Amino acid sequence: MWWQDAVVYQIYPRSFQDSDGDGIGDLRGITSRLDYLSYLGVDAFWLSPIYPSPLADFGYDVSDYKAVDPKLGTLDDFDELVREAHARGLKVLLDLIPSHTSIEHPWFREHPDWYIWSPVDGPPNNWVAAFGGPAWSRDELSGRWYLHSFYPEQPDLDWRNPDVVAAMQDVMRFWLDRGVDGFRLDAIDRLVKDDQLRDDPPATKPFPLPLHEDAAGLEMRYSGNRPEAIAKLRALREAAGDALLVGEVFRPVGEYRSWLEVLDVVFAFEFLFSPWDAERLRAAIAPAAELGRVAWVMSNHDFDRLATRVGPENLRAAAVLLLTLPGIAFVYQGDELGLANGPGAAKPYDRAGRDRLRHPMQWDSSPAGGFTSGEPWLPLVDPAARNVADQRDDRRSLLGLYRRLIELRRVLGAGFRLLDTEPGVVAYERDGHVVAVNTTPEQHTAPEGEVVLATHDGEGLPPHAALIVRN
Ligand code: GLC
Repeated sequence: MWWQDAVVYQIYPRSFQDSDGDGIGDLRGITSRLDYLSYLGVDAFWLSPIYPSPLADFGYDVSDYKAVDPKLGTLDDFDELVREAHARGLKVLLDLIPSHTSIEHPWFREHPDWYIWSPVDGPPNNWVAAFGGPAWSRDELSGRWYLHSFYPEQPDLDWRNPDVVAAMQDVMRFWLDRGVDGFRLDAIDRLVKDDQLRDDPPATKPFPLPLHEDAAGLEMRYSGNRPEAIAKLRALREAAGDALLVGEVFRPVGEYRSWLEVLDVVFAFEFLFSPWDAERLRAAIAPAAELGRVAWVMSNHDFDRLATRVGPENLRAAAVLLLTLPGIAFVYQGDELGLANGPGAAKPYDRAGRDRLRHPMQWDSSPAGGFTSGEPWLPLVDPAARNVADQRDDRRSLLGLYRRLIELRRVLGAGFRLLDTEPGVVAYERDGHVVAVNTTPEQHTAPEGEVVLATHDGEGLPPHAALIVRN
């Protein structure tokens, strides 16, 4: 299977490359930058949603699953992108949003029975939306209350209705016929809800939920995480054939064994919620590595950027960890340059505060970073300080390190064993190689063996450094 230890590059289409000067990234822009992905050495890229959307949730509120947002291009542009990607040996993953649509999707009016409605005049339970507030809103037109796990503009589909399952299978086939190699399945822990609409219990074993504290107080036992979801995902698997299916679920990865009967991998989000501390990182790695089929993520369009979360001093060691663990590694665009959270927009686009994670890619040191010839939809963060052009030919740059790691990753053995180490160090063996990561500002002892990669100069295992040795 091509994806087993693939590196997948996440593209946020509005912010990658603009081709027509309107300040918004687009598909043609992405096509023009494919050589960069080849240079980096990644196996595949995942496009955050490209479908028409009223942008209440920036593309995650889809109003037509079988088209391209005109701001991003056309279906012809998409076909061209797939062709050019495949010509370079790059696989293409789309973001599929099966749990909810935009409230402006024609289905909402044409097929109200495809959605979930309260049986009473008001919210029937205590369910909370991921972005805070009740998960139920009143539809002004019908006067009935509908369920939305996210923004009120994103009504949840009723997966107990077979027509919904068939419609989403049809969507998948549409894109598979156009050559896509897989899907990242959005928010599938929300796919199916309790048929009795029971109250969620208070959270006992909190796993940090994304985005809003209201949602963290309850355990998603009835509003999501339902075992009935497996059968629905099996239907998606049928439509997908052997295309890659990556699931976005927000529970500890160990709880998703049954989901892996139908999905290829689930995201391991534990790093996003773990401080840069050896003990915590080991605790995050152990169960996921045991599960095997995970996709590691250190940041994405929903959470703080890697540089902001772990601090610039740990960026090199974080790259080593991300790219040497067994499984798939997802790299969010710009992390390979060390891009940090930005200021966001003067007038926010995303109500949940995520603009600051979505600033445009920085290709060169010019004010618009080579991203656009126009006015960028979000300002650039620091193109003069960090950009592809400057780092590209410098082996010692962060970009150079990502590239070397992606190359080196190919020679790492399949085995994996966490090693006992000095406190403050995470170390593991990959048949024939040992990786050691120092999470502290103190000096530590290097593992024995011939050094094949070092993030820092100096003896032993310097502060904040990582080493790969052959033993
Ligand atoms: C996922 C997406 C996020 C979106 C949410 C609702 O978590 O990554 O951006 O807001 O689903 O679709």
